[in-house]
Amino acid sequence: MRTSLFVLSALIVLGLAAPTVTVSIASEEIDPAVVKALYNKKCSLCHGKDGIPKKRGGDSASFQDSAWQAETSIEDIVAAINQGRGEGKYKMKPLKGKLTEAEIRAIAEFVKGLEKK
Ligand code: HEC
Repeated sequence: MRTSLFVLSALIVLGLAAPTVTVSIASEEIDPAVVKALYNKKCSLCHGKDGIPKKRGGDSASFQDSAWQAETSIEDIVAAINQGRGEGKYKMKPLKGKLTEAEIRAIAEFVKGLEKK
């Protein structure tokens, strides 16, 4: 009896918790048009709207390049945005705290989508 009560209350807890989790993920989803606009505003000056670096992109890889994409994870891109990259004449400033974590992740996913296969 005790065990079945425990199972029952565990099910109730799970049942209540599950929708909450879904909602919090959904609320972090950002409209793709907004993500693209963010990339264009914060990144394209140096990395190009299409991911091909401009002069200020320095030695950055082209985001269209399949080999670069294959060796670069979303986490790598998130880290680059958070911490910045490079030194000297052409460098990228850290954006940690200037964008939300959800925005940074969404931009990283957008960069992943720039690959030309
Ligand atoms: C002011 C110019 C500038 C801006 C703005 C900028 N970057 Fe960069 N980024 C660079 C430079 C320069 C490098 C290469 C640094 C190095 O390694 O020498 C770089 C490197 C990177 C890399 C690593 C590329 C590689 O070759 O592995 C990623 C990923 C990246 N940037 C993403 C972004 C994203 C996403 C944004 C927008 C949120 C952004 N950058 C904004 C200049 C910029």
